[in-house]
Amino acid sequence: MAEIGKDIEKAKLLLQEGKLVAIPTETVYGLAGNALDAEAVAMIFETKNRPAFDPLILHTSSIERVEDFVSSFPEKLKVLAENFWPGPLTLLLPRKPIVPDLVTSGLDRVAIRVPNHPLTLALLESLDFPLAAPSANPFGYISPTAPVHVAAQLGEKIPYILDGGACEVGLESTIVGIEEDEIVIYRLGGLDISEIEKLVGPVKIKDHSSSNPAAPGQLDSHYAPRKPFVLGELKELVSESLTKNVDFSVLSFSDFFPEISAESQIALSPEGNLLEAAKNLFSAMRKLDEGKSTVILAELLPEEGLGRAINDRLRRAAVK
Ligand code: TXA
Ligand code: MG
Repeated sequence: MAEIGKDIEKAKLLLQEGKLVAIPTETVYGLAGNALDAEAVAMIFETKNRPAFDPLILHTSSIERVEDFVSSFPEKLKVLAENFWPGPLTLLLPRKPIVPDLVTSGLDRVAIRVPNHPLTLALLESLDFPLAAPSANPFGYISPTAPVHVAAQLGEKIPYILDGGACEVGLESTIVGIEEDEIVIYRLGGLDISEIEKLVGPVKIKDHSSSNPAAPGQLDSHYAPRKPFVLGELKELVSESLTKNVDFSVLSFSDFFPEISAESQIALSPEGNLLEAAKNLFSAMRKLDEGKSTVILAELLPEEGLGRAINDRLRRAAVK
């Protein structure tokens, strides 16, 4: 079973030996290995049961270091990096040959980000290689936002989980690239796109797998609980399910339903705050998935700010 601790030196030694370590970031926990070591990268795919066509994000500690891995850095993307790194932003940049094919699944661009977590930044600074790190969950399941989530699913397969507490943002990074001078969003995430638009003007959103082979990880069904996850008008769903005697639980934005028990419902943010809702989303989905109900009823949030990224995850969770 993986040890859970705050020992950066231990994490560093394991990574230097080619082993995998779960690392905290502000978005979700990552399953990290030496990005320049194809064997370590292969182990990441195997450990997560992840198909090899789904490329990984390379994590490094500064913009300066990014230059080692990319052949050019378009000005508009650099502006975003300067403003939002360290932070929940991933950039797709033309890669140098030093980046193994396995990291990019053979694509010409490599995904890179500087995560904003003090332990992981210190770890990255102490290493002389970048870390490849997908979210530390089995492929397709809910991303982990706490060390116990990682331990529950990958604990048997990895030696160490670096404990950085609960993730502050709670949604994966926003993935951004550029196509013919137009900024393109490939995954909605923890950085609100209106923040991006303030700096570079209107962006294009291209975040569905069916129409978007460039981000193959954006499968329609993703971030999914094992139980049926039904999205709709909660008041109606709840009264209907009570009539039919269905054993359900409820994931609401802010409402509490007095007609059902407190244990079978979670409000993501009783005050209706989208940042708080994002932070709580994945742990709430997990908790209800682990509980005794047979179905989870949920609702979409306001389609604004981080609500868009949250709704993206809720919709994918509902696809079977
Ligand atoms: O917040 C995050 O981004 C977290 C933390 C650990 O940094 N990582 C994460 O990684 O969410 P992962 O592997 O679960 O999701 C990465 C996404 C995938 O959908 C993948 O398809 C896309 O990034 N991606 C990676 N490299 C790409 C590339 N070269 N071109 C297009 N999409 C890429
Ligand atoms: Mg993932």
